[in-house]
Amino acid sequence: MTPRQLLATLTFIGTAMGFTHAQAADLTISCGAVGAELQLCKDGVAIWEKRSGHSVDVVSTPNSSTERLSLYQQILSAHSSDIDVMQIDVVWPGMLAPHLLDLREYLPEEATQGHFPALIDNNTINNRLVAMPWFTDAGVFYYRKDLLEKYDQPVPGTWEQMTETARIIQQGEREAGNSGMWGYVFQGRAYEGLTCNALEWIDSYPQGDTIVNEDGEITIDNADAARALTLAQSWIGDIVPQGALNYTEEEARGVFQSGNAVFMRNWPYAWALAQSDNSEIKGKVGVGVLPKGGDNGQHVAALGGWNLAVSKYSDSPELAAELVAYLTSPEEQKRRAIEASYNPTIESLYQDQEVLAATPFFGTLYETFVNGVPRPSAVTGDNYSRVSNAFFNTVHEVLSGNTSAEQGLESLESELTRIKRRRW
Ligand code: GLC
Repeated sequence: MTPRQLLATLTFIGTAMGFTHAQAADLTISCGAVGAELQLCKDGVAIWEKRSGHSVDVVSTPNSSTERLSLYQQILSAHSSDIDVMQIDVVWPGMLAPHLLDLREYLPEEATQGHFPALIDNNTINNRLVAMPWFTDAGVFYYRKDLLEKYDQPVPGTWEQMTETARIIQQGEREAGNSGMWGYVFQGRAYEGLTCNALEWIDSYPQGDTIVNEDGEITIDNADAARALTLAQSWIGDIVPQGALNYTEEEARGVFQSGNAVFMRNWPYAWALAQSDNSEIKGKVGVGVLPKGGDNGQHVAALGGWNLAVSKYSDSPELAAELVAYLTSPEEQKRRAIEASYNPTIESLYQDQEVLAATPFFGTLYETFVNGVPRPSAVTGDNYSRVSNAFFNTVHEVLSGNTSAEQGLESLESELTRIKRRRW
């Protein structure tokens, strides 16, 4: 790419992300915009601006983690100083580390204390702390308490029971006049969110495992993985709308929150919004663990979450690190937990009475949050996005009915073997 083409690309990215270069602020931070996320980020930044006397531009990023990653990769590989502080996914530190500052050089020791050690470890690459944990995530199961009661059904414990119960209630509600009712919604678009959903289905079966195991062995071509995907394939057009093949978090929440789904898989942020005053389902929602794969399976939640990193190309690294320290502090994490059910990364906040009163399942599902199953990003390092892309594309093909689970998994195994070569 010539310098002129590069500049044109960056200007285009800048415009797409809503940068304004007219009145340069002291810093620029990019935040997610899923649900209330952007406003929540802006509010936290405003508190820091007031206290510090500095000005910050907040720019939003696409909702799909996969799209966000390619945007960041373009910006970082161009060594652009446009963004100082970046919100980065829990699966990215290994891939982006060369472009990020070691925050240990900028932050006081206390800043990292009290955070879950596993998250600090996750963000430490070659002894460099490349990002501070901001919020953690785990896949959870949302259900309509009122409908389970009306049809006298328990909260389903296995995916098989979920399928049955979804069918019964969907049919009953449709017969009663709600023709738009569906049994289940989840994130089915071919993107990172589908990797999380499908990992949960597969690993919830006894021998399903995690695509690539902790030793780096490719384990995906197995009978339990096929069993999980075959069941998921059967949902499409039956208890799950065909359109879910294009859903991210927000589309799934839209259907559930407007009262048109019995069950939903989503992250904790959806809770505060489902309970808000303009929600159709306020007071009717339960949150629990995701179903197991069969009676001998296990409840699995994919570990998600986001961190704040400072770009190596920032013109104001010290100031950027100060902003990161404030946004990831206990005070700000508590505000975000209470106002919008974002999971703190600071252990003690899970015992905070105000946090627990606002989001009771932070207490009841504590074990789920600390035992989330990581995607194989640490073990596959730089190759993670290729691994995840290959995985979600295969799962999407299976869900779309273009291939069987067995065939899809067999060719996925070969593809991953090609990506791996001899070592990750
Ligand atoms: C959530 C998770 C993140 C994950 C994404 C997938 O934002 O926190 O880790 O990659 O969902 O859609």
